[in-house]
Amino acid sequence: MDLSTTYLGFELPHPFIVGASPLTDNLDGARTLEDAGAAILVMRSLFEEQITSEGLAAYHAIDAHAESFPEALTYLPERSEFILGPEEYLEHIGRLKQAVRIPVIASLNGVTAGGWLDYSQQIEQAGADALELTVYSVPTSADLSGEALERRTVEMVRAVKEVVRIPVAVKLSPFYTNVAHLARQLDNAGADGLVMFNRFYQPDLDVEKLEVLSGLHLSTSAELPLRLRWLAVVSGRVRASLGVTGGVHTVLDAVKASMCGAQAIQLVSALLQNGPQHLRTLRQGLSSWLEANEYASLRQMQGNMSLLRCPDPKAYIRGNYMRVLQCWQG
Ligand SMILES: Cc1cc2nc3c(=O)[nH]c(=O)nc-3n(C[C@H](O)[C@H](O)[C@H](O)COP(=O)(O)O)c2cc1C
Repeated sequence: MDLSTTYLGFELPHPFIVGASPLTDNLDGARTLEDAGAAILVMRSLFEEQITSEGLAAYHAIDAHAESFPEALTYLPERSEFILGPEEYLEHIGRLKQAVRIPVIASLNGVTAGGWLDYSQQIEQAGADALELTVYSVPTSADLSGEALERRTVEMVRAVKEVVRIPVAVKLSPFYTNVAHLARQLDNAGADGLVMFNRFYQPDLDVEKLEVLSGLHLSTSAELPLRLRWLAVVSGRVRASLGVTGGVHTVLDAVKASMCGAQAIQLVSALLQNGPQHLRTLRQGLSSWLEANEYASLRQMQGNMSLLRCPDPKAYIRGNYMRVLQCWQG
């Protein structure tokens, strides 16, 4: 079965790629993922704060976390808590590129357009095949409008696209009023790919200690439908490639994501739970499923559930909502 797909301009033999995570932190792990069939590796993120605090500390010749430093920085993890510092990150790109033949995508996580984005050039020079920009910002100011927030993201993408030649993907959150509008703006700013959606590690509370608990929970397939909705809305409306991240665990999850327009399927939780061999299981399973359902190729199925095919998507979504609420019999 022909499972080939195109993502960020890369011609891939199949859509399964390794999402940003610790899975590529060591070279043996990366090689094992390649051997199991990963089509691309996305590295863990380097954070804007890592770059700015290191840069500022070097400039002022002080410890970035000393008391005299702005209070905001005291909330950040210690420099030693980051697995890869800015310099190590660049070195690791080079080492990964030597270790595997598949494309390696580096990841930058930030919120503002600014000098730190020069780092994207260094990432390109270090040999990364593409860059994934992760936007993780929880607005807490009542003065910041949604429009201003989106503008920041678009400006960040435009700034990066001005300084690098490698493809740039943007990993989004679902928390925008109109994801399709933002997707269009990012597309116009030159984004080569949109990845939907980052998972937010929602805090819980310890009510005795009055503390915020922030643990790491792996995803389940229950998180996929939110991605399916927005993939289906955006698919066919942008030039950028579409990738899915969040909640793909099974062959049917992969089929659904593809039908809604995903050209690349990022996996993290499923690989942490089942090991690299899960890549092979999914690839074989997708092949068998397409065959059994009489598709000639993956491309034939990609986007066939795009909402562009629906004459009135708004009425369709609203109608489904009303129907769902009526189906619960008291
Ligand atoms: C342990 C762990 C580390 C992660 N690190 C990053 C990261 O550095 N940058 C990033 O953009 N996403 C990171 N993620 C998020 C994943 O890339 C992915 O978007 C998310 O886990 C949803 O996909 P999944 O359902 O396949 O796990 C991490 C996830 C996990 C579980």
